[in-house]
Amino acid sequence: METMEAIRQRRSIRSFRKDEIPNDVVERLLDLTIQAPSAKNDQPWRFVVTRGEAKGRLIQKLQEVLDEEKIQGRPTGSMQGSIRAMAEAPIVILVFNRLKREGIPEPYCYGKLLVDTQSIGAAIQTLLLGAQAMGLGTLWVCDVLYAARQVQVFASTEDELVAAVALGIPAESPGPRPRTGWQELTTWMD
Ligand SMILES: Cc1cc2nc3c(=O)[nH]c(=O)nc-3n(C[C@H](O)[C@H](O)[C@H](O)COP(=O)(O)O)c2cc1C
Repeated sequence: METMEAIRQRRSIRSFRKDEIPNDVVERLLDLTIQAPSAKNDQPWRFVVTRGEAKGRLIQKLQEVLDEEKIQGRPTGSMQGSIRAMAEAPIVILVFNRLKREGIPEPYCYGKLLVDTQSIGAAIQTLLLGAQAMGLGTLWVCDVLYAARQVQVFASTEDELVAAVALGIPAESPGPRPRTGWQELTTWMD
């Protein structure tokens, strides 16, 4: 599939077939993912691939956090829908920032967070486009940040959670979602 085609055809997928994704497919996808650019080639990303029973425990943990948030009367946005999509997907990849900022003074500390998060965003988008090119569907999920600490405990890591990606064979083919035209968002300067 051409790059431009993959970019145009990619959609967020929230309904997945039950089919398992073979290990070698996930490995090829991660190998594409790490080709993403990163600031100073620091490669701040780290991945935890969850499936089967472990993914079930993750979903259960997220649901517990959501239920507690609701009891506390706090807004939970699209979290229930995100949990549903991740529960359907055969694989959920947790994406962490493995680089620490301890000892880095302000404002460089904040700058480093922004820079590393951009690098990880590039990796996630590379993952999404790679999956598209391989005929797989994805959902980029930041709703997991509602449960950032609990996900760290689940994955036995102190690395910071950035996002999750649900991965599987799509069971839906949504049409394009609205975009503000680049013309409205772009200023030309000569
Ligand atoms: C940083 C980021 C976080 C997102 N988090 C969620 C999420 O938690 N739940 C969800 O359903 N979709 C999430 N999405 C998907 C967006 O809702 C989706 O990309 C947007 O509506 C445009 O639709 P499209 O991806 O099909 O073009 C996220 C996307 C990005 C880039």
